[in-house]
Amino acid sequence: MKHLLKLMDLSLEEITDILNLADQLKYEKKNGIEHQLLKNKTLGMIFQKSSTRTRVSFEAGMYELGGNALFLSSNDLQIGRGEPVEDTARVLSRYIDGIMIRTFAQEEVETLAKYASIPVINGLTDYTHPCQVLADLMTIREYKGTLAGLKLTYIGDGNNMANALIVGGIKTGMKVAVATPAKYKPDAAVMEWASANGDFTWTEDVLEAAKDADAVYTDVWASMGMEKEAQQRKIDFKGYQINDSVMAVTKSDAMVMHCLPAHREEEITAKVFEEHANEIFDEAENRKHVQKAILVKCFD
Ligand code: CP
Ligand code: NVA
Repeated sequence: MKHLLKLMDLSLEEITDILNLADQLKYEKKNGIEHQLLKNKTLGMIFQKSSTRTRVSFEAGMYELGGNALFLSSNDLQIGRGEPVEDTARVLSRYIDGIMIRTFAQEEVETLAKYASIPVINGLTDYTHPCQVLADLMTIREYKGTLAGLKLTYIGDGNNMANALIVGGIKTGMKVAVATPAKYKPDAAVMEWASANGDFTWTEDVLEAAKDADAVYTDVWASMGMEKEAQQRKIDFKGYQINDSVMAVTKSDAMVMHCLPAHREEEITAKVFEEHANEIFDEAENRKHVQKAILVKCFD
């Protein structure tokens, strides 16, 4: 695997290989078995948006595999002053071994990968969040033992998380049900692809989507970069919440998932969040394990 730009680019076999390696690395780490698989490798991490999990899990993951990570805020890089991404890609390729980038436009990540001679990993764009969804798939598999045939429900904004979950869910044989307001549907091409390639449904009705779900997932109503819309979105998304009424129609052992950060009493109630905190923080932990697997596969 050269790059990780979006899940649409990965085959089921590549996804499964990443999840299997992540499981192995997690097990070994917990049993004191250390690896130097990325000895002397350096990852540059470009951030044009805030991050807790992505930054810390990539950085810690690189160190745990014997490598180094550089935190490159766009406020400090020349990219923030208008240096073209094409030039940034070619310069960084002369210094380091891989780039992780969190930014706004998916095209910027694709351009970076086109001009870089080193692997590029998407650490979130407005369009998708592949590293998060690989950690989510790992977590569901950990709890349920399988992915194919399970029902994954997403409730909330049709944003980067929705797009990535639809693709990841369908590719691994899950039934994917999405409930968003009509004005905030996921990407049209993603929905069309999902309908043609698996069991995908979209509805405005939260309870219909949640019925018999094995896992219910939500995310913030206003993503990074949408701060100005936050007040309007609080009105538009009312009811698009994981709460006791939603949990009453899912399977009784349904998991609750959230990529975090969470806004309690908006997309999820504090009660449901705390009742499912183990799953949600296992999911956060798995970011590190799955990203170590992604790094090994990309740097191979
Ligand atoms: N879920 C996630 O990507 O979190 P951060 O924004 O903290 O990186
Ligand atoms: N949809 C959120 C995800 C954060 C991990 C955002 O883009 O801000």
